[in-house]
Amino acid sequence: MALREPIYLGTEISLLEVRKLTFDRMPLEIWFDDYQFEVDYDIGESGTKFQTVRELSIDLNEVELRYGYHVGHPILRKEIAKQYEGNSIDNVAVTTGASEANFAIIAHLVGPKDNIIVEHPTYPSLYQVARSLGRDLTLFKLDWDNDFRPDMDKLRKLVKPNTKLISLTHPNNPTGSVITEAEIKEAIEIAEDAGAYLMVDETYRDLMFDSPPPLAATMSPIAISLTSMSKTWGLPGIRIGWAVADNSIVEAIRAVREQITICNSSLGEAVAMEVLYKKDEVLANIMKAVLSNFKIVKEWMDSQDWLEWIEPKSGVIGAPRLKRGGSTDPLCELLVTKYRTFTVPGSRMELDGYFRLGFGGEQEELIKGLEQLGKALKEIHS
Ligand SMILES: Cc1ncc(COP(=O)(O)O)c(C=O)c1O
Repeated sequence: MALREPIYLGTEISLLEVRKLTFDRMPLEIWFDDYQFEVDYDIGESGTKFQTVRELSIDLNEVELRYGYHVGHPILRKEIAKQYEGNSIDNVAVTTGASEANFAIIAHLVGPKDNIIVEHPTYPSLYQVARSLGRDLTLFKLDWDNDFRPDMDKLRKLVKPNTKLISLTHPNNPTGSVITEAEIKEAIEIAEDAGAYLMVDETYRDLMFDSPPPLAATMSPIAISLTSMSKTWGLPGIRIGWAVADNSIVEAIRAVREQITICNSSLGEAVAMEVLYKKDEVLANIMKAVLSNFKIVKEWMDSQDWLEWIEPKSGVIGAPRLKRGGSTDPLCELLVTKYRTFTVPGSRMELDGYFRLGFGGEQEELIKGLEQLGKALKEIHS
């Protein structure tokens, strides 16, 4: 299939339409902004334990605090490209977190009259950007009854003549469901038949419990890989993510970010480079901690009378629900206010009835947080 060159940024939007764009705050981020620093036990975070510069033993003294290359330092891009067979630095755009890459890709590929299909649940900005830009958004729902696995027949039926981008996230936030190589291949075929691109958010892929499927961008020129150093690596503070894609998309990302952030933080890039150089060693330690935490949370969940979940297949998060049904808002609110424990109510991710339980952090904090969760559950059931 010939790659199209859609440049929609502003060209087809009338001034009137531009004025109508609205960026509402995302309920998930409001919850974080309000409570993440007000608690003692955080068991709602979606990443691994936050790292410090000291723990990483990185010397940042000589980092020049200048503007950087607009889609990332070539050495960093080269290091990233190595992981994506068949791709070179021309296919890599390093961005201010995966969030910026997601924004730029949607802004570039999905025009005012185009449709975008976004898997749901997921991290909300993956669909909220399309809403903010007033794009035709279709949610591709993952269901409890199907273990939150993506149903490709269902996806095929959702495609419209104007679909330009399909966006999937696996391992999934917050359900921890995974995708197989065969399913990614099918999604690529569906996108190809539609004349669309497929974007796979692979932010949690390095935290697979079993061997991961291939990186999407290595499978087809119409497949885009999106990822971040925020979750697996416990480094959201460096604000580094990237997309690996056809070069026309990398160039579009460059254009978008020249109007928002221009380039990455030089400190962020320096940390990212050092961590990627010793990737295997750092990841081995992270994975050991994650699997040990998962054992704890799994045993705790197995002993619960009031909660049930589809066990996460990878990553550091899961989405339990109350066996008796109903909203989890009262539980999560009680947890933050009385028990100083942070989880995320599903309603903040358009998934009311569930809540996000994160097990990537400090083990002691996890154990204490689960204890608090047990107390709050008892309270709401008494
Ligand atoms: C699946 C997924 N993608 C992207 C992001 C955005 O991450 P960042 O912008 O920090 O890279 C998140 C954050 O929670 C996420 O869970």
